[in-house]
Amino acid sequence: MISKSAPFITFEGGEGSGKSTQVDILCRALLKGGVDVVNYREPGGTRGAEEIRTLLVMGDGDRWTPTTEALLMSAARADLVEKRILPHLKDGTWVICDRFADSTVAYQGYGHNLGYDRIETLNNFTIGKLKPDLTFIFRLAPELGLKRAALREGVENRYEHLDLSFHRKVEEGYDEVFKRNPDRCVAIDALLDIDLISQLIFKEVKKRFNI
Ligand SMILES: Nc1ncnc2c1ncn2[C@@H]1O[C@H](COP(=O)(O)OP(=O)(O)OP(=O)(O)O)[C@@H](O)[C@H]1O
Ligand SMILES: [Mg+2]
Repeated sequence: MISKSAPFITFEGGEGSGKSTQVDILCRALLKGGVDVVNYREPGGTRGAEEIRTLLVMGDGDRWTPTTEALLMSAARADLVEKRILPHLKDGTWVICDRFADSTVAYQGYGHNLGYDRIETLNNFTIGKLKPDLTFIFRLAPELGLKRAALREGVENRYEHLDLSFHRKVEEGYDEVFKRNPDRCVAIDALLDIDLISQLIFKEVKKRFNI
């Protein structure tokens, strides 16, 4: 049994769907309202996990086998969970994660065809009983998401270089996550404008956690 006394909220969805934009807005709104909150991006969030991140988000698409990639993601996640997420939640600090275990289901389980069950086994080993209380899943046709992502500058584009069929399978993976976890998952239409999405998100958070 894990002991936690604050909400754990995750943001999920394909490339360029607007997750980081909304994590930023929600954190600011919560802080302004006096809520003690921290946010992390995955893979990353500790020194070791950030080092693993560089292995995962840069370079050629086929640099890792799917299994190696899933294990690297999970290694970074285990470091973040044990060193940051669990201690914060225990202390009553809200935690928001820009991607979490559902990304591994979608990307490695579906995108790379490892399958739901194998990734679920891996996730259970990595995060134990820690489950998000609320997960926003951003839905956007991958063609559009990739276009948005391409407009950003930077070198963290390994996934953006994978072909469209990969990103379509990622979307299927998120469908499955949504179907299997209807209570904690809320779908977000990422075509809506940024302000409207942030209002929907804030409303949902207020409703669920009584703030
Ligand atoms: N609702 C929106 N409508 C139009 N453009 C948006 C919207 N939300 C975000 N954007 C823009 O799309 C781009 C991608 O957004 P963002 O970085 O938040 O996506 P992301 O889901 O975090 O992507 P990644 O998975 O690659 O980290 C940014 O340039 C951002 O300004
Ligand atoms: Mg992002």
